[in-house]
Amino acid sequence: MPGDKSSSHRALLLSALSDGDSTIVGLSSGEDVRATTRIIEQLGASVTRDDDQVTVSGPADGLRASNEPLDCGNSGTTMRLVAGIVSAIEGAHELVGDASLSRRPMDRVAVPLRLMGAQLRGDGAQLTAPLHVQGHSPLRAIAYDVPMPSAQVKSAVLFAGLNANGHTQVSEHVRTRSTTETMMRHCGLTLHSVDQGSGRRVTVTPGRPEPTTWRIPGDPSQAAFFAVLGAVHENASIDVLDLDDAPERIGFVSVMVRMGARLSWRRDEGATLRSESAALVGTEVFAHEIPSVDEVPALTVAAAAARGLSVFRDMGELRVKESDRFASSMALASALGCRVWSEGDDFFIDGLGSARSFSTFSLDAGLDHRMVMSAAVAAYAGNGGTIEGADTVSSSYPGFFDDVAALQ
Ligand code: S3P
Repeated sequence: MPGDKSSSHRALLLSALSDGDSTIVGLSSGEDVRATTRIIEQLGASVTRDDDQVTVSGPADGLRASNEPLDCGNSGTTMRLVAGIVSAIEGAHELVGDASLSRRPMDRVAVPLRLMGAQLRGDGAQLTAPLHVQGHSPLRAIAYDVPMPSAQVKSAVLFAGLNANGHTQVSEHVRTRSTTETMMRHCGLTLHSVDQGSGRRVTVTPGRPEPTTWRIPGDPSQAAFFAVLGAVHENASIDVLDLDDAPERIGFVSVMVRMGARLSWRRDEGATLRSESAALVGTEVFAHEIPSVDEVPALTVAAAAARGLSVFRDMGELRVKESDRFASSMALASALGCRVWSEGDDFFIDGLGSARSFSTFSLDAGLDHRMVMSAAVAAYAGNGGTIEGADTVSSSYPGFFDDVAALQ
């Protein structure tokens, strides 16, 4: 798998904030991570590449505002985490993105960052990009209760908290990926994390990251496409190697096992997931099982191939991803020939019993890399299809089609 996208962004950002040279091995080559790379260069870090290794030099006197807009491309993680960082850099910053990113809500980060003393302006009530940030240093330490399950919002506040006048505390009701917390500790920062029911509270002490070496694990969210492909294909066995297997990232595995998938882990040097052909049955999937809901479009394909009804519950967050994935996941299942419907934030897919029964389809991926890969899995395992806008796969996984072709 390509290097984990979440870890790649954070390795770049933490390295840029430090004073000195850090090394990153296995950085994602996707466009999203390239956007973060360009932005840290604009803010004063220097980046050099050598084969699979990237060296980032953080400036001794810290990052500084750029005169040019910071182009986050298609990447919500870039815009939200960078908003947290530049909120603590004196001066004016403008964050821009592509058509997809410019529709996504930025008020979810602006609310806590304003409480911390930065000024943020965007379009409309949801403060969509271009996002104008007036940074302030130091920021005010706050205690913030994140209203939606979002690792990006939690991380924006934690990054801002590195340059606050005291301890910043973030509470979440659902335990989202803890990539930021783990990686901040790895570079010498002090964080305390306590579980609270189904959520957790994280406290960060202000400080500067130390230069370090980062080894980026494989991306489990990309592995989900291969797990589904292996399960729904009539004659497959696929091993996906060296994954980040943090509990918040692999909820899709339990869901698929419940559907009858033959998935097994081997954990020696890294975590390897094997997926073999299986007859799937429908299930009920709750959003909290898969925080961030990144793997839901892939699971939609599993549901379409399963026998019986699948229900996806509380899936409102899908609507504010790279596309409205609530609508586009339903559109994909429908294009494959399934009966689909929704009630509020729940959607239902009546499975066809086998990928062999999939219709040959046509789908517009709408600047959404995960919709491209989900549709491609359905096409490969089923009876082919046409994907408009398939190029957008490069935002996270430029080699996806080559890797799938190599399986055959
Ligand atoms: C990410 C968090 C998730 C996820 C995205 C990466 C991160 O977004 O969808 O692909 O790296 O923090 P949310 O925080 O909006 O759930």
